[in-house]
Amino acid sequence: MTTNGSGPAGAILPDAPPKDGTAPIVELRGAGKAYGNIRALHGVSLAVHPGQVTCVLGDNGAGKSTLIKIISGLHQHTEGEFLVDGAPVRFSTPREALDKGIATVYQDLATVPLMPVWRNFFLGSEMTKGPWPIQRLDIDRMKKTADQELRNMGIVLDDLDQPIGTLSGGQRQSVAIARAVYFGARVLILDEPTAALGVKQSGVVLKYIAAARDRGLGVIFITHNPHHAYMVGDHFSVLRLGTMELSAARSEVSLEELTNHMAGGAELAALKHELAQVRGVDVDELPEAEDLKAPAAATPEGTS
Ligand SMILES: Nc1ncnc2c1ncn2[C@@H]1O[C@H](COP(=O)(O)OP(=O)(O)OP(=O)(O)O)[C@@H](O)[C@H]1O
Ligand SMILES: [Mg+2]
Repeated sequence: MTTNGSGPAGAILPDAPPKDGTAPIVELRGAGKAYGNIRALHGVSLAVHPGQVTCVLGDNGAGKSTLIKIISGLHQHTEGEFLVDGAPVRFSTPREALDKGIATVYQDLATVPLMPVWRNFFLGSEMTKGPWPIQRLDIDRMKKTADQELRNMGIVLDDLDQPIGTLSGGQRQSVAIARAVYFGARVLILDEPTAALGVKQSGVVLKYIAAARDRGLGVIFITHNPHHAYMVGDHFSVLRLGTMELSAARSEVSLEELTNHMAGGAELAALKHELAQVRGVDVDELPEAEDLKAPAAATPEGTS
């Protein structure tokens, strides 16, 4: 386990080499990003291995989106190293990341709500038939392939002709995951896929994150929710104010410890002390930091 919460020097140790011996597909070594004077990310080390889920946790503004923007080719790092398959890279566009097999599913999901599911599945990469320049869309083949690919991932939809906008949020995320798998992703980045979802729908998405992992993809799962992370994660990286506060394999950290890191027990204690100075707040009536650490369970209780 690598922790970086208490040491004044803020030194960050690299992750331990993987126990199963697989080389990371994507790796950051002491990477960081400054937007002008604002240092959004500093000294972050992270490795993504095939067939593993790496969870990136952190509060608002911790640097999670900045981290994945570097990996997905939207922004460039301004310090440290970024390697793909062991070679240093610096992407100028998301297309370059995609060419290396790094696919990102954003929360707003870039789908066309009124278009059928199968059409969205192939959006931008349609199958055609007939000789150039009189090619037509090969609708039958696209429908059949989309149906097969969704089934391969265990996703069963009644009707692929229905507009994708009629699916639930969880189902739409699932289609986006299956699409990335079909188009050859090796690394799948999911930016808070469960943030806007209810308990059951979150369970659906977690199930397909596990399915993508089982098909050998390296998954980067960004979330605020330690319960969701712990259900599928093999490795946990907690960001705080742009630096990595915790980097631990599943065997090295319990759900309770992870929740504690997210909740910031020390900060809650300090807040309580400050509130004690405010007239009218009876601090003895406030819950202990310990009680606040475990939010009322947001645990998916089944998948559809
Ligand atoms: N384009 C930008 N220009 C300047 N500052 C930025 C930019 N993008 C992010 N920041 C700053 O960098 C820090 C990290 O932001 P980031 O969006 O990576 O956090 P986050 O962990 O994704 O937060 P959230 O949970 O709210 O999505 C914040 O202080 C933010 O204000
Ligand atoms: Mg963000």
